[in-house]
Amino acid sequence: MTSRLQDKWILITGASSGFGAAAAQAFAATGARLLLGARRVERLAEVAGAARRAGAASVHFHFLDVSKTSSVEAFAAWARTTIQAEAEPKHLHVLVNNAGGALGLDPVARGLDADWETMLQTNVLGVLRMTRALLPLLPQHAGASILNIGSYAGHTAYEGGSAYCAAKAGELQVTRVLRLELNGTGIRVSSIDPGLALTEFSLVRFKGDAARAEAVYAGTEPLTADDIAEIMVWVAGRPPHVNIDELLVKPTDQAATHKVYRRT
Ligand SMILES: NC(=O)c1ccc[n+]([C@@H]2O[C@H](COP(=O)([O-])OP(=O)(O)OC[C@H]3O[C@@H](n4cnc5c(N)ncnc54)[C@H](OP(=O)(O)O)[C@@H]3O)[C@@H](O)[C@H]2O)c1
Repeated sequence: MTSRLQDKWILITGASSGFGAAAAQAFAATGARLLLGARRVERLAEVAGAARRAGAASVHFHFLDVSKTSSVEAFAAWARTTIQAEAEPKHLHVLVNNAGGALGLDPVARGLDADWETMLQTNVLGVLRMTRALLPLLPQHAGASILNIGSYAGHTAYEGGSAYCAAKAGELQVTRVLRLELNGTGIRVSSIDPGLALTEFSLVRFKGDAARAEAVYAGTEPLTADDIAEIMVWVAGRPPHVNIDELLVKPTDQAATHKVYRRT
């Protein structure tokens, strides 16, 4: 059976690692066409090569910093030109707003402005900017999707998580607002909200401290990037009249932020 995503254009932000890189492979396997963005272009080139081998109909990548309006606008212009240069369909089918992450785990009393500003810039304003810039490329009829990658952190609170929990709660509210604003257009809007997952997330959060990052996953079985990528493809591949509004997915070992089963 031909996939609903065959030959469709899928744009993924934060495609250089983790969920975004895995999503590139998973969408590639459906025969979709890919537009990939992130700051580490050399990593995007590797992801793009793997996506071509995995069966993507077409793969393109470009530098993107979602924390800067000028970069988002340049990326959107590139995306438009790239889509126009190929055969039908000449519009975007899925926008995956995945770029983001956490910086630090400091209590508010010792929090750093730079960390807070980066988290809110990427996870909230990045989603707003990307959506504003790419909406003109999404068709105003049934089947198109915006998939925002939120977090369990947007549903709950944990010590040291102030700006990240606030940012992901903000992402969830942006998703809900968009669903209201786009009602009647046929464009679906979803938030996929993972719990503990093994990617470069903790390495970035702890600013390159590998031992501290590894300790987050010690003795437990976290979600993988492929788990989340598979869910993205499933959500985007539902029939046009079906919208998966919000999908909270945690590893079986994670009952709550503070209740993670560890075998060691
Ligand atoms: N792993 C988890 O436990 C977990 C759980 C819930 C939600 N999440 C969310 O899932 C999303 C993906 O994270 P991940 O776990 O896959 O971590 P990751 O491996 O660190 O990937 C993060 C991606 O975001 C990109 N990115 C970060 N800042 C960016 C910016 N300013 N402009 C463009 N791209 C940017 C990175 O690319 P460059 O550095 O190359 O730009 C990278 O491709 C994030 O929104 C994160 O908050 C993760």
